[in-house]
Amino acid sequence: MRKKSDVIVLIGMMGTGKSTVGAHLAAETGYRMLDLDAMIAEKAGCSIPELFEEKGESYFRELESAVLVEALKVPGSILATGGGAVLRESNCGEMLKYGWVVALAATVDEIVARVGEDKGRPLLAGGARQRVTALLEERKHAYNFAHVTIDTSGKSAEEVSAEILMHY
Ligand code: S3P
Repeated sequence: MRKKSDVIVLIGMMGTGKSTVGAHLAAETGYRMLDLDAMIAEKAGCSIPELFEEKGESYFRELESAVLVEALKVPGSILATGGGAVLRESNCGEMLKYGWVVALAATVDEIVARVGEDKGRPLLAGGARQRVTALLEERKHAYNFAHVTIDTSGKSAEEVSAEILMHY
């Protein structure tokens, strides 16, 4: 039996590659890929930007916590979370309880290059570089609870995925 949970949870800021790396990990392990934002959008019946626009961020955070708890109970899975899923301490506790938690990190330059002026990310409205810098400062300790942290800057998703599996 494996010592680590068969639920691999990817956390990290937007643009650190959680979804892309998650897809590689799923292919490598045979685990099922789960994308928390996609699950939230499905449950809400609308896109993430629409949800922010129509119901506001706090409603989104409620739904995010509820869907996270459900998603963590799917065995044999790679769960790519949204960058703000760690903002509630109770969410971090749930992740540690059910999963093996991997934080992906990247520099501001790398994040901005990856996300650009992405309209699908409401929290970046008003200028990606400025917003990413501010969010990274606000969240600088938020991802530290992970079991492992991997710097993804300058690396391909395959490389990051292989590095994660070396720790698994
Ligand atoms: C958010 C990150 C997004 C999404 C939402 C809020 C955040 O997910 O959940 O826009 O607070 O950092 P990604 O990290 O997948 O972009």
